[in-house]
Amino acid sequence: MEYMGNRNFWEQKFLSRPDSQLPPETILIEDAAFFKEKGSVLDLACGDGRNALFLAGNGFEVTAVDFSEAALRRLKRFAEKERLTVYTQQMDLCCEENFDSLGKFDMIVCNHYRLLYKTAMQLKKHLTKNGVLWINGFAECPQDNPAIRQSDLIVKEDYLQIGYQLEDEKEYQVGEHKFIRLTLKTEGADC
Ligand SMILES: C[S@@+](CC[C@H](N)C(=O)[O-])C[C@H]1O[C@@H](n2cnc3c(N)ncnc32)[C@H](O)[C@@H]1O
Repeated sequence: MEYMGNRNFWEQKFLSRPDSQLPPETILIEDAAFFKEKGSVLDLACGDGRNALFLAGNGFEVTAVDFSEAALRRLKRFAEKERLTVYTQQMDLCCEENFDSLGKFDMIVCNHYRLLYKTAMQLKKHLTKNGVLWINGFAECPQDNPAIRQSDLIVKEDYLQIGYQLEDEKEYQVGEHKFIRLTLKTEGADC
């Protein structure tokens, strides 16, 4: 079964999770120290908000979007518990028109979700001058999780082909799993 774009799969997944948060992505914690100070962040495919909440807790102004209602409900509950503000919007990242109302951000983060070309293109309009697109995810299909397919892997060329400039990249391994983190900029930002 194709699981990544399957809304029902994610609804069920978030509905069946225990009432506790997962820790934020380790490499995001490391990188956050270098992000534009206390800027605005858009977290794409935010899930139940482990990264959005981490960034909000560290002084960033965070907007988090996902197509799963259950995920966003959990995010809001965690945010209330921690007395943090995270603006949320339920939206399907595959529909370009959904981005119209979002505005511009100093940083856009996308963790463990492969953006469509058209979405990555669209995001250029939503970055401020010197804004950064931060992408992290699997670089190779994990042997122990057949749900992650080739089409879910993060591919640097996807972004370079459509005019993003690579600021930094890091390939790293956690146990048997290989990941890649990209930070990208675009000349088009804020023009
Ligand atoms: C692997 S989870 C990653 C969640 C989060 N970024 C994290 O690191 O914990 C993938 C997320 O993508 C969301 N998603 C998948 N397809 C989507 C789409 N077309 N539009 C919006 N969200 C989507 C799912 O609901 C899920 O929350």
